[in-house]
Amino acid sequence: MSRHAAITGIGSYLPETVLTNAELERMVDTSDEWITTRTGIKERRLAGDGEATSHLGARAGVRALKDAGLAADTIDLLVVGTSSADHVFPSAACLIQDQLGLTCSAHDVNAACTSFIYALQTGVTAIESGRAQRVLVIGADTLSRFTDFTDRGTCILFGDGAGAVVLEASDEPGVMGIVMGSDGSGKDMLTIPAGGSAMPVTPEALAAHEQFIKMVGTDVFKFALKIIPAVTTQALEASDMTIDDLDWLIPHQANQRIITAAADRLGMSEDQVISNVEYTGNTSSGSIPLALDDLYTSGRITRGDTLAFVGFGAGLTWGAAIVRWTKTTPNKEAL
Ligand code: UT7
Repeated sequence: MSRHAAITGIGSYLPETVLTNAELERMVDTSDEWITTRTGIKERRLAGDGEATSHLGARAGVRALKDAGLAADTIDLLVVGTSSADHVFPSAACLIQDQLGLTCSAHDVNAACTSFIYALQTGVTAIESGRAQRVLVIGADTLSRFTDFTDRGTCILFGDGAGAVVLEASDEPGVMGIVMGSDGSGKDMLTIPAGGSAMPVTPEALAAHEQFIKMVGTDVFKFALKIIPAVTTQALEASDMTIDDLDWLIPHQANQRIITAAADRLGMSEDQVISNVEYTGNTSSGSIPLALDDLYTSGRITRGDTLAFVGFGAGLTWGAAIVRWTKTTPNKEAL
């Protein structure tokens, strides 16, 4: 009998502080009308003082564990998808392990906004190979700490947040085909130049705002429109499925225009496509599991449904996963 990985717990966390478009109007030369029309975003959340990626991830993780009905010491592996760990090292995963009282090995995976898909793949592989029975996969980012709030081209987009899933070994298919890709020739389209080994954070780097996100927005936009339908189709093929088998599409929440256009190209109807970008902004690695938790807690998804997760981001990176839903209803105590 084949060994599969199924999602048995879901949790998410958004920090309390809300940053609205009206507040951004007072910070940079922009308008609620421009932001809404070009992105669909109305507000986003910001991590509070003393709150970093590990804290967001840990809160999402604890909710996912509760939803799965599992104690922390039963988890065999923690994988955290993030590109904004609390420190260069130790990893966010080690900090989360400590906060949750996990006893397993823990590591980060960085594929920018695609990190959750990459982390999911790591968890699925560990289970399918028999090396792990239960894996906690978290997507968490605090990109507000890397956002230049004088750059209107980027500061309107990003928000902080985290989502998590528990994967468990199962006899029935759960996570099915996963396809991932990278193209490092696109490295300059979206980058944080300073803070790594190439450019330490010097006074000169800080003065030039090199510690913040730099993005060629229109190029990323075009890349996203092309890659979302392509990688979703590839993941469906890898699962011996077609678009007609898909009940739900959960794309990376970067921009409503990207979500709508990509869904149109795939021939998915509006009510099959999950979007929360209006009130989360782009939460990077948190976005897909946050949107999944929205769908899950709304009660619309039922056992046997098929979903596609699809992400893209800096690198360039991209990835999609097809998931057969094997859960029933949320564990209300976890909410
Ligand atoms: O996780 C992946 C992360 N990134 C993305 O997914 C980003 C993908 N790209 C986008 O979402 C869009 O490219 C943006 C929302 C960033 C920009 O929208 P756009 O329709 O591509 O606008 P644009 O960059 O072509 O700029 C159009 C105009 C420019 O003015 P001019 O040169 O036409 O006079 C910009 O300077 O809009 C201006 N502009 C703004 N105006 C008001 C750029 N940002 C703003 C702003 N408010 N916040």
